[in-house]
Amino acid sequence: MTSDRYTFAKNLAREAGVIIRQGYGNAEEIHKKGVIDLVTEYDLRSERFVVERLQRAFPEDAIVAEEGGEYNEGSGHWFLDPLDGTVNFAHGVPVFCISLAYMEDGHLELGVIYDPLRDDLFHVRRGEGAWLGDQRLHVSSVKSLNQSLLATGFSYDIRTRIDNNLDHFSHLALRTQGVRRLGSAALDLAYVAAGRFEGYWEMCSFPWDIAAGTLMVTEANGVVTRAAGDRIDVSRATSIVATNGNIHDELIEVLAGGILPPHEHTAAPKRPGEKRSS
Ligand code: IPD
Ligand code: CA
Ligand code: CA
Repeated sequence: MTSDRYTFAKNLAREAGVIIRQGYGNAEEIHKKGVIDLVTEYDLRSERFVVERLQRAFPEDAIVAEEGGEYNEGSGHWFLDPLDGTVNFAHGVPVFCISLAYMEDGHLELGVIYDPLRDDLFHVRRGEGAWLGDQRLHVSSVKSLNQSLLATGFSYDIRTRIDNNLDHFSHLALRTQGVRRLGSAALDLAYVAAGRFEGYWEMCSFPWDIAAGTLMVTEANGVVTRAAGDRIDVSRATSIVATNGNIHDELIEVLAGGILPPHEHTAAPKRPGEKRSS
């Protein structure tokens, strides 16, 4: 039953949050998975803790986790990022979370994104809405890119990848109120669901990064697709565009490299002592 799993997942994310919170500022063992891709002992501890608890409670479920790959086989799948925002965590930047989602027969059923420093528990169950604690979440009602605040991310192969997202980043920085790079894809998506960002995109994401957040955005009345604008399958590596719906087509068009909408020129900020000519 997914209701058992929902309650279980919320409690489990909070408990894993205790492990991560204790490690914040104390991570000594930081290893490199790639040139800029880090893993700390707390990514591993959090994953071990969550996987063991899930295996004990739901031995029939499969688990796909960032650090350990796949555990078990089964028709129900958990997607776990035991610490999303590892580079922030390792540098003492307070933006990271745990992300956990459950999918059955190809449908995302529930998701939890827990920010242990703010004690923010974002949670969602299919058909029951997305929530921050006991507050129901809705995407924002902003109508245009020009009035939007967006978030994005870059994958760890940015130095070698042709489609490295830097051109999209610069185009959108000129056509929005700003583009943030928080360093946690799961929190980016939770913030779209909460109406804080109008949209988020990334060119290559993994199931553990985006599964929980995708359900959160759709249950908060937003739209999630691939960068090409078509249906997303979060159970494999994919591009992602998640928005409040209103700006979706505009954002997809910019990402497709189509004709860029004109942007207004902004005046340079006034310097101290400078008189502005009218
Ligand atoms: C990363 C973060 C980042 C996103 C990367 C992810 P990690 O996850 O979510 O914001 O841009 O694509 O890999 O390594 O911190 O779990
Ligand atoms: Ca991640
Ligand atoms: Ca991670």
